[in-house]
Amino acid sequence: SDPDLVARARAAKAALGDRAFVLGHHYQRDEVIAFADVTGDSFKLARDAAARPAAEFIVFCGVHFMAESADILTGDDQKVILPDLAAGCSMADMAALPQVETAWEVLADAGVVDQIVPVTYMNSSADIKGFVGRHGGLVCTSSNAKRALEWAYARGGKVLFFPDQHLGRNTAVLELGFDLADCVLYDPHKPGGGLTPAQVRDARMILWRGHCSVHGRFTLDSVEEVRRRVPGVNVLVHPECRHEVVRAADLVGSTEFIIRTLEAAPPGSAWAVGTELNLVRRLANAHPEKRVMFLDKTVCYCATMNRIDLPHLVWALEELAAGRVVNRITVDPETARYARVALDRMLALP
Ligand code: 13P
Ligand code: SF4
Repeated sequence: SDPDLVARARAAKAALGDRAFVLGHHYQRDEVIAFADVTGDSFKLARDAAARPAAEFIVFCGVHFMAESADILTGDDQKVILPDLAAGCSMADMAALPQVETAWEVLADAGVVDQIVPVTYMNSSADIKGFVGRHGGLVCTSSNAKRALEWAYARGGKVLFFPDQHLGRNTAVLELGFDLADCVLYDPHKPGGGLTPAQVRDARMILWRGHCSVHGRFTLDSVEEVRRRVPGVNVLVHPECRHEVVRAADLVGSTEFIIRTLEAAPPGSAWAVGTELNLVRRLANAHPEKRVMFLDKTVCYCATMNRIDLPHLVWALEELAAGRVVNRITVDPETARYARVALDRMLALP
């Protein structure tokens, strides 16, 4: 990193002191992680943001939906800052509120809406979390999807899960023991979601047609190729990967799980990791006594996570230190009220 920028980041952070708390998601660049007060997966960061009532500024080095969730979970006088407003998430953008409302009407027309509990992945906008909160559902992350679905199925016979079809399918089939045939895919770009009313009535899991553009690129070929090339390799992937990839892997879990698994791995063991490249590179550097490699060299960084770089972080910290509040993320109170209900149900899971 540019030594001048590093010095400026240090100075601005020191000037802000306890007034600013910097959160860094595991997919952030090394140069940004170096200034994070805490790092975590999206679940841990949501909890950590809520546990800092004394900080005036929560500087969120992650993507927009994470900053929105932090705003919902923090006090009214706390300000959540996203150092680059263009740091979105292509998966979260695959479900817009009007589309979800249309889906709800389709389910009502099929006569099943009373049986449905909506579950949204954390990777969704605040208004979608609000919709879910208003309709008796909850938020989940990749570290609690199984418990969230158990909660939902204790309250209704069907789940509408969005936006990530892969997390929904992988959790339903591999963790809850559903058949693939219990899951149907709702395509928001097709009339009626591309489903017949009979398909909707027969399904237990209605999956939104959304995916992560980074994790969706790992294939079964990547897994087979690394197993041929590296005998004894352990394949460790994020549940946003396609079903056949997760099924072929040895272990699956959130970014926090991936980190803990590699920490506990014996020296000399080999690991092919299917998740974002910044994290895999950091893990490879942190564990030189283990062979940590990327599951597929053609898969790259999450472009939107990478938008938060040291220049943006320095700019945001310096502006805050100078008394100018920049890039604040706010959720309107009515949306926040219901989104909070859906987030609190997740935070209360056993
Ligand atoms: P985690 O909840 O595992 O941190 O994942 C968030 C994410 O965006 C993965 O693509
Ligand atoms: Fe969104 Fe995928 Fe990037 Fe995660 S890795 S923030 S799901 S685009």
